[in-house]
Amino acid sequence: MRSMLAFAVALLLGVAAHAAVPLQASKVSVSEAGQLERDAQIELARQIVMHGSPQGAHSCATCHGEEGQGKTKAAFPHLAGLPAPYLIRQLRHFNQMARDNPSMQAIAHNLSESQIVALAAYFSRLVPPPVMGATVQPPALGEQLALHGSGAVPACVTCHGPGGRGLGGALSAAFPPIAGQPAVYLERQLVAWRNDKRPAGPDGLMGAVGKHLTVEQIRAVSLYFAAQPTLSNVPTAVVRP
Ligand code: HEC
Ligand code: HEC
Repeated sequence: MRSMLAFAVALLLGVAAHAAVPLQASKVSVSEAGQLERDAQIELARQIVMHGSPQGAHSCATCHGEEGQGKTKAAFPHLAGLPAPYLIRQLRHFNQMARDNPSMQAIAHNLSESQIVALAAYFSRLVPPPVMGATVQPPALGEQLALHGSGAVPACVTCHGPGGRGLGGALSAAFPPIAGQPAVYLERQLVAWRNDKRPAGPDGLMGAVGKHLTVEQIRAVSLYFAAQPTLSNVPTAVVRP
């Protein structure tokens, strides 16, 4: 198992590193028409975020905040600054009832594919909320697992970047930042993977990680990443996705 996961990491990191080169080289200035289309897409998303959709999806701001900053006390994750391809994947999973959460399934069920793409673009451009400091001191076990891994599980930062702030660039399509998300939210995700309630994600990596963690490790590592600063606290630490 250890070697399988290690192999998958090497493969993914290798492939993505190659993909990053042509992606950057092909950056061209956006045409005026493209810009107008983009503005329209962002405006469509903003309407849904603030007021919900005519098809019945609730306003995202109610739970995720007007700036996509989330609500820590209610364990609503922040969406601001998460990579667009990651957000699209999650909204599709909710839409197809593959990721378990009754509120989000009902909401995503009422979103069209173009609305999903527009909302992902919208939230990915916002700045993640700063982390105000831990209210609970994370157990040392959390840091140990995050930085060094344990048994079959590689260090979380291998895939989630320094401090869990993401790897940036092309790699961010697969590997989201996890720093500063509510501890209860993070814990629920890891438990969901343990219980096959959330799709295992690219190459089944998180399904494998979740199944190798104990309840104690899950709690400790969730408290650790919830207390880690985001890109708002450390703006120059990582290239923005
Ligand atoms: C009633 C509250 C509520 C509303 C309204 C809501 N969400 Fe959510 N959302 C949640 C909760 C709770 C979760 C965490 C689900 C879980 O634990 O898996 C979540 C998770 C998500 C995720 C996954 C985040 C991640 O890091 O994987 C995305 C993406 C998302 N919501 C997008 C949206 C969008 C877009 C809208 C508006 C169209 C919206 N949500 C409206 C409650 C809400
Ligand atoms: C081999 C690479 C890899 C390692 C190691 C890894 N992850 Fe992940 N992680 C991923 C991928 C890929 C995703 C995206 C899954 C998806 O798209 O649903 C992810 C997603 C997550 C999410 C969901 C974020 C959200 O917003 O819902 C959490 C939480 C998470 N990982 C925690 C951890 C923790 C904690 C560790 C260490 C114990 C860890 N990961 C180690 C690859 C990895």
